Amino acid sequence: MSTMFVARSLDEVRFWSRIMKEHSLFLKLGFRCEDTQLIQEANQFYSLFEDIERKAHTFDVGADPEQIRRFNAEVHTAVSHIWVFKRKVLGLVITCQMPGANNFPLLIDHTSREAYYFRNRLEELNAGKLEPLPDAIISENVFFLRIMADHAKFIGHLLDPSERKLEEQARSFSNDFDTLLFQARDLESMKPQSQTVPLLDQFLDVNRISVKALRDFKKTAKELIDACRIKSIIHPLLADHVYREAERFLAIIDMLDASLPGAKQQSGHAAGDPP
Ligand SMILES: [Fe+2]
Ligand SMILES: [Fe+2]
Repeated sequence: MSTMFVARSLDEVRFWSRIMKEHSLFLKLGFRCEDTQLIQEANQFYSLFEDIERKAHTFDVGADPEQIRRFNAEVHTAVSHIWVFKRKVLGLVITCQMPGANNFPLLIDHTSREAYYFRNRLEELNAGKLEPLPDAIISENVFFLRIMADHAKFIGHLLDPSERKLEEQARSFSNDFDTLLFQARDLESMKPQSQTVPLLDQFLDVNRISVKALRDFKKTAKELIDACRIKSIIHPLLADHVYREAERFLAIIDMLDASLPGAKQQSGHAAGDPP
């Protein structure tokens, strides 16, 4: 049990601390030259999460659970601080106090939602209370479907307007994921009656198909950007970042699906285990 706690904790911290580190970079790149204070704060968050990421890789599954519990608490504090920073920047942008800055409010809000998710996961891990499987299936999908819908919107808006075909594809993904998100919210409002195995199984299957398609689209976009074959203002690291988040969502869908009673695939996770 404590090995599971350590493994889960390290997996979450390794994945999300890299994400938080990259958010600091993206936020910094969107600031104006005169925003020196904000640039400095972003740099500090970059170093902070770089250190956390490095530290997370020094532990292995045999680490002392108590030490990992303290590490999780330390990471929790850092994540709370970056969340506050992101919300502050969001406030500045939407009240027009940073004219000419280059970060969309939705992108800043999006990165703050990811921080909130990470913080919540650390709390659950340290409290040792994880959501029951049927609840986890719905809440993880509600969270990640919106994240995917946002990514499609960011890609569409950061492509050069002359990339008409790609922009059209991005818009179509945005519509798909908005629809899937509404479906997920419908299932959520019909809880607990909606939490039958056939409905949850179908829900995961339908979402998986669209996430795979979006993941492949992101992979193609990333390769085209890396090779400088398309016109855009998408940072190559942002393309890779959103690709990794889609891969993470797919892994979570597979893990949840494998935990459903009567699951076709076999996994080492018991029913009731959250992602
Ligand atoms: Fe992100
Ligand atoms: Fe994201």
